[in-house]
Amino acid sequence: MSHDQPSLFDELPTPKAEDLKKATIRVQQLHDLLNHANHAYYVLDDPSIPDAEYDRMFRELSELETLYPVLLANDSPTQRVGAAPLAKFEQVTHEVPMLSLDNAFVDEDMVDFDRRVSDRLVAGAEIEYACEPKLDGIAVSLLYEGGVLIRAATRGDGSTGENITQNIRTVASIPLKLLGDVHPPVLEVRGEVYMPKSSFDALNEKARLNDEKAFVNPRNAAAGSLRQLDSKITASRRLEFCCYSLGRVEGAVLPEQHSEILAQFGRWGFIINAESRVVLGAAGCQSYYDKLAEKRNYLAYEIDGIVFKVNDIGRQQQLGFISRAPRWAIARKFPAQEEMTILDDVEFQVGRTGAITPVARLKPVFVGGVTVSNATLHNMDEIKRLGVRVGDTVIIRRAGDVIPKVVKVVLEKRPEDTCDIQFPKCCPVCESRVERVEDEAITRCTGGLFCGAQRKEAIKHFASRKAMDIDGLGDKIVEQLVDENLIKSFADLYLLKFDEVSKLERLGEKSAKNLLTSIEDSKTTTLAKFLYSLGIREVGVATALNLQNHFLDIRVLVKASFEELIAVDDVGPIVAKRILSFFAEPHNQSVIDGLIKSGVNWPNIEKKSQEQMPLTGKTYVVTGTLLHMGRDQAKGYLQGLGAKVASSVSAKTHALVAGEKAGSKLQKAQDLGLEILDENAFIELLSQHGINHEN
Ligand code: IVH
Repeated sequence: MSHDQPSLFDELPTPKAEDLKKATIRVQQLHDLLNHANHAYYVLDDPSIPDAEYDRMFRELSELETLYPVLLANDSPTQRVGAAPLAKFEQVTHEVPMLSLDNAFVDEDMVDFDRRVSDRLVAGAEIEYACEPKLDGIAVSLLYEGGVLIRAATRGDGSTGENITQNIRTVASIPLKLLGDVHPPVLEVRGEVYMPKSSFDALNEKARLNDEKAFVNPRNAAAGSLRQLDSKITASRRLEFCCYSLGRVEGAVLPEQHSEILAQFGRWGFIINAESRVVLGAAGCQSYYDKLAEKRNYLAYEIDGIVFKVNDIGRQQQLGFISRAPRWAIARKFPAQEEMTILDDVEFQVGRTGAITPVARLKPVFVGGVTVSNATLHNMDEIKRLGVRVGDTVIIRRAGDVIPKVVKVVLEKRPEDTCDIQFPKCCPVCESRVERVEDEAITRCTGGLFCGAQRKEAIKHFASRKAMDIDGLGDKIVEQLVDENLIKSFADLYLLKFDEVSKLERLGEKSAKNLLTSIEDSKTTTLAKFLYSLGIREVGVATALNLQNHFLDIRVLVKASFEELIAVDDVGPIVAKRILSFFAEPHNQSVIDGLIKSGVNWPNIEKKSQEQMPLTGKTYVVTGTLLHMGRDQAKGYLQGLGAKVASSVSAKTHALVAGEKAGSKLQKAQDLGLEILDENAFIELLSQHGINHEN
């Protein structure tokens, strides 16, 4: 081997000083560029550069760090992807203890708190309180030296926590290096790591698909994700961080108001909760609480209450602490969303599409603000995953308006005489065969409209307000009509006689007459409502409207090909297949014929060319949470009026429909001076064009 041939045992060549200098400058530049892009994306929710550009810079930085290992710093943006697994977490002592908060459960507790504060401070005027949502996550402390994150720890028992620095580095909204040029030499920022509801739902959905146990709630998911010895697992979970207080600071003077300190944290690159406000006195706190309690279900993250803090730091110091909690703050709790109760029985319900759902019958329990005695168990796979048996003590969760769920079995409380839950071998209502479609967790009754349960649900849907809108045909009446065998299909509704109807329980002569009149009145409808009323799977109100506007004539629609269907706004391959198979079914064809023969009709709609549609040529963007309709529904309405719906705001956008918690898109639309419609203005726009979102 000649001398100039490199050997495996040679030292790596030392980079030329000149190259290293250039690389050092570039690495620094890339840190700054990536940190700013990261902040724009995760904290401001307003991406500043395309993802591809971010990836390109990220790769360039990784390559430079491989080439020049001396340039790999702890606060490099490449360190967010997780590091080598740890054997255990080291202990960390909190120099300033991490305290907890006293709780207030009723309005009077808040008044008492305000009185205690005012009395102690001998304050003449009303006290200023900083109000923040109480995020339901994990408290963490982040230590920055010279603006660089050097240590992150859990709260632990308040005095000693665990070192979770590697995991925290993977949380994208936590700055590894503070933004701006001036930072305190030592700064400890405290706040909550939490998992947004959407990430929690996605994580649990994935767990279910992989037959793994789901997390009980977003807080447990956040805790489970943070306490991973392998930070790559943490990196794969979408966690966020929101700061809520100062731990310690050295070598700098921070503002004298809590709200101003948080604002400064915002300038250093942290997420500050968008709902934070400063109010005056107990009345101000109460009205903040009421407003947020209403908003609670629409927030992107879970909160379990509100934290009220005396805003003035000097006054906080004057008030001090009592045992483990400050006298200057209180947590006003919302009603609990989880409670424990006993599973008395499991029944199987058959829905409109034949899906058989196990329903838990529970000892009534007050949870999420209502008394719950039933909860869904979804399907058999879920029952297996939970390992639940009749007689078990279970945890019920009711978050927001969603159907209560059984989320966990309390095994320690399992009595000896619990029973196994068996899935029925045939439909519990009509005894038809049941089938489970491959790759679907759902088992369905194959009885179709032969099955009384499916018939009842289908007719309830047919009569509902957004469908044929038959006033007075409530659930109880539909159930009786089906049980008495008076209606077997939709068309039979139009053949009902006064004698038959007036015999029904709780229906006097007058109501029977009124009901027959509403049935008659419902005959004149719109094609969209008619299509929706048929209960075609995946065809909601907005899709039905788009089908109407596209095809105008049901005879054209029933013959439409797959290609013709997917040409309709808002109709993808899955929806198109559902529509095709619905119209291919001879039974459904005769239902439609039967209805038309009984006199169901809709005025012809003239073919409106694109130019004639009211919103043709206008591009809308829909963002935030709408309280009266889904976002897809709103988009469907806009498309039905001829508008284009885009996913991002640009100078070409005509107007933005902004619901609750509209983030960066709203900001951008404001910056561009675009028209912004809140939900009420949007509903008004729809009604100007003859669309009633409630119908
Ligand atoms: S202030 C000394 N603010 O609630 C006061 N805490 O029960 C320190 N929490 O462990 C806490 N959101 O994890 C504060 N906006 C907020 C909060 C908040 C959630 C948690 C925190 C703390 C627990 C106290």
